[in-house]
Amino acid sequence: MRVAESSKGHRVLVIHGPNLNLLGKREPGIYGASTLEDIERSLARFAETLAVRLDCLQSNHEGVLLDAVHGAVDVCDGLLINAGAYTHTSVALRDAIAGTSIPTVEVHLSNLYKRETFRHHSYIAPVAVGQISGFGANSYKLGLQALVWHLETLRSTPNKPKH
Ligand code: DQA
Repeated sequence: MRVAESSKGHRVLVIHGPNLNLLGKREPGIYGASTLEDIERSLARFAETLAVRLDCLQSNHEGVLLDAVHGAVDVCDGLLINAGAYTHTSVALRDAIAGTSIPTVEVHLSNLYKRETFRHHSYIAPVAVGQISGFGANSYKLGLQALVWHLETLRSTPNKPKH
């Protein structure tokens, strides 16, 4: 696990799923030229402006992603997840997010709905607060901003459902 920490306040775990370690080289016409390291560095800078402490994890293994979600219970306030292809296949990841009730924002670099129909269905979307899709590397920043707004709302209205 690679961990990039920024400042205090809300603590957010950023989870990147399979093949996202290839960003920069992988289908740049779809996913852009930024590497995962570039994205995390820029997100960490943005997180500082929001007083968010960021932990980042990428894995190509579904079980590692599940363990990361479970491990975030009572540690992280929210999850920002790009589950990659597991978005479209993983009931287990969906169940982990639902089972832990950690407020989760789903992000995608590409616009799923402009692409193949098999990418139009997300198992994560129904258990997420919301989804950001199609803004390239900026999807992560938009997602983090949205997650922080949601967490702030939860703080001020604690009886509101978390998802
Ligand atoms: C992706 C979209 C998924 O369909 C694909 O499998 C990915 C990346 C995105 O960020 O656009 O790996 O999640």
